[in-house]
Amino acid sequence: MCGIVGYVGPKDCSDVLVSALTKLEYRGYDSAGIAVFDNSEIKTVKTKGKLKDLEDKLVETGKPEGHVGIGHTRWATHGEPSDVNSHPHSGARVTIVHNGIIENYIELKEFLTSKGRTFISDTDTEVIAQLLDYKYNGNPLETISSVMAELKGSFALGIMFRDFPDRVFAVRRESPLIVGVAKGECFIASDVPAILKYTKNYYLLDHDEIATLTKDGAAFVDKHLAPVQKDLKTADWDMEAAEKGGYPHFMIKEIYEQPTAIKTTVIPRIKDGLPCLEECGITLEKIKDFKNIAIVACGTAMHAGMVGKYVIESLARVPVTVDIASEFRYRDPIIGKGDLVIIISQSGETADSLAALRLAKQTGAVTLAIVNAKGSSIAREADMLIYTLAGPEIAVASTKAYITQLSVMYLFAFELALAKQTISTDECKRLVSSLLKMPDAVQNIIDNCEEKCKYIATKLITADNLLYIGRGLDYALSMEGSLKLKEVSYIHSESYAAGELKHGTISLIDDGMPVIAVATQSAIIAKTISNIVEVKSRGAKVILVCTDVCARDLNDGIADHIIEMPHSEELLMPITAVVPLQLLAYYTSVDRGIDPDKPRNLAKSVTVE
Ligand code: G6P
Repeated sequence: MCGIVGYVGPKDCSDVLVSALTKLEYRGYDSAGIAVFDNSEIKTVKTKGKLKDLEDKLVETGKPEGHVGIGHTRWATHGEPSDVNSHPHSGARVTIVHNGIIENYIELKEFLTSKGRTFISDTDTEVIAQLLDYKYNGNPLETISSVMAELKGSFALGIMFRDFPDRVFAVRRESPLIVGVAKGECFIASDVPAILKYTKNYYLLDHDEIATLTKDGAAFVDKHLAPVQKDLKTADWDMEAAEKGGYPHFMIKEIYEQPTAIKTTVIPRIKDGLPCLEECGITLEKIKDFKNIAIVACGTAMHAGMVGKYVIESLARVPVTVDIASEFRYRDPIIGKGDLVIIISQSGETADSLAALRLAKQTGAVTLAIVNAKGSSIAREADMLIYTLAGPEIAVASTKAYITQLSVMYLFAFELALAKQTISTDECKRLVSSLLKMPDAVQNIIDNCEEKCKYIATKLITADNLLYIGRGLDYALSMEGSLKLKEVSYIHSESYAAGELKHGTISLIDDGMPVIAVATQSAIIAKTISNIVEVKSRGAKVILVCTDVCARDLNDGIADHIIEMPHSEELLMPITAVVPLQLLAYYTSVDRGIDPDKPRNLAKSVTVE
């Protein structure tokens, strides 16, 4: 939540900051602001609203002219979205932007108030600005280090001291931050896409490290102010990959990118027709003895874990629990030596997932991270790591990251089943070959189902409530379908195990309520059909997502709309069947006049608890 940027260099700083912030709006978009050294004075312009509102305000007030500055796009935590709560925040001699949460800000605020300091905002960030100013001794690094020692919680900060108009300071604990470098200029940013227009070269700031940025380059020290040498990294994402490329929204662009994302993720991990995860630190020998697996994640990543549970249990016969990370970390989970904990995360920075990883490590369990963002905290701290190679995902609602998380879950399940000798090498080869067909299968669904989904979306836009139902893998998938729809269309929706409906939830069905039924598993199709009949006879409007094989046996009139997909390996059906669910959500959102890339109240990367 919240995106921060900073710049030192020859370009027009206000323009660079605003342009970099456009790439971070997915992290929060309820207010935005910049502060720039303009004739040695720090000039701040900030406003409630989206970046567009900031751009309008910059035109109105005149943009600060200068070459050193910081910027912020906000997802409110402390204090409502308002002009005064927007970042940057200042003390007399210091101005900062902040991503994260200061847990002891009330104590610190009381202390500073007792010293005669006054506050104008409700934010925890202003407390940091005031504390920096209070402790300022003429030496920025010493001041920052002494403030860090007082702060509890998470922070990535961009800092400008009035007395040092040629530099920006940056520091991080928990919240992500990179330092980009090019000839004669330096950048800070919460995420790589923000700097790609200017440079591909960057450093990852580690916990409790402080960076000093000048036009001559970046220098790093640890919290004791000892110099730190860091490795320069090169982003393998290009600008085009982080831009809309002619699509009206990132969400639809990313849905379209799914065939490529699966290919990129799967193909390098196949050797001689079998999974090969050695480069990720995974060998048959290393995984053959796990007795229990816990999958821990949040949101869409957790739904990928739900599919993973079905697949791992069915192929490798190892019991799997799936936990929401914010629950797992506080419920004293029963895991330890001999167990495997899999953390799934697109950003690799989700605060609860990171805390769950650390907890798992403390118990002695082995940890495996499935992460999209290279070099992120979860990626760096796990024992084993499989990157999903989806490229940058910008839309808040996850699509291509989910499909690649599924692909990796399958690869891992195949490998585990081989290690456990619960499937033969031939069977594994057959499954791998089916997985390799998935990019084409997904493309086929995009090509053939999009128009139908567009049409059905026009029938959903007036709904107040909606149900998704399915059994087994279809239930796991319907959870993701339901989340996608509610995230981007604001229609209330729940997913339910179809067989459980009659134990309560069926009472919600009334005339015209849409029910989206997913039925791709032939072994249980008859059972799901019975549940569809139950809701249909109570007035539901049924949209059935099923395979052509399942569709063959349906009686006329069983559903109001049928989205029929070509049959493929049933265990892998979630990979294809998620596509119509994503398209339904996307078009419903667009038809309701919502920007699907920036749904209200949500942020893509949730780096606070
Ligand atoms: C947020 C996003 C979701 C995402 C979840 C977990 O809630 O809006 O789309 O699934 O965080 O994020 P992660 O980066 O850990 O996958």
